[in-house]
Amino acid sequence: GCIAAVLPAAGSGQRFGSDRNKLFAMLSGKPIWFHAASRLAARPEVGRIVMAISEQDEVDFRGPFAELVNELRIELVRGGDQRSDSVRAGLDAVADDKSIEFIAIHDAARPLVRDADLAAVFAKAAETGAAILAAPITATLKRVLNDGNASLTVDRSELYSALTPQVFRVDVLRRAYDRHRGRPATDDAQLVERIGHPVALVHGSADNIKITHPEDLRIAEAILAR
Ligand code: CTP
Ligand code: MG
Repeated sequence: GCIAAVLPAAGSGQRFGSDRNKLFAMLSGKPIWFHAASRLAARPEVGRIVMAISEQDEVDFRGPFAELVNELRIELVRGGDQRSDSVRAGLDAVADDKSIEFIAIHDAARPLVRDADLAAVFAKAAETGAAILAAPITATLKRVLNDGNASLTVDRSELYSALTPQVFRVDVLRRAYDRHRGRPATDDAQLVERIGHPVALVHGSADNIKITHPEDLRIAEAILAR
């Protein structure tokens, strides 16, 4: 089935601490958002790429970056205050397109997603209606008890961190977003879980980091150079 990729890119990159959106930071000669979008654009299943951007970044995306935007045939839409508002704007942009069966939501801040992981999560979503990439937790996790005076070690064998893409059949994601009344959620899969639809986890590479802090860019450079 045909997939629309929705890339939320409308944040401001507070934690990155630069004077403009972190997504404009360069990684191996190209901005972070371009890496993320081009990896999705390279997949044959992806028919459309919609990127949600903020009002203040519009001059950059329509000016200096317009050529890169056109190269990948990216459709730009206006994002919102919360990440979920930005995703919803992307969903609305493809709502009338009957050729789109699945939506793959991918953080523009994850430039290193592997092609094999994309193929795997797309295939799982085609089978189940909802699938996300996730990486096993490697840290030893403690649950705090008694105001920090005691603790318990949590079994990490069944714990994963959620990555993106998160891929859903259009009708499933639409229902999840229609029910979403702004209750905080840290990913899209959570909204789908809330409507009672199971979300399958696909084991993805831990290289698929989100650029959050400045040091993440150095790590990404090292991963790319490997
Ligand atoms: N995002 C978005 N719309 C928002 C907030 C975030 O489209 N209102 C996007 C970001 O641009 C990013 C992705 O969601 O590609 C993941 O968010 P995050 O890593 O938190 O980025 P920022 O919100 O920009 O960073 P920070 O939280 O440090 O401000
Ligand atoms: Mg944020």
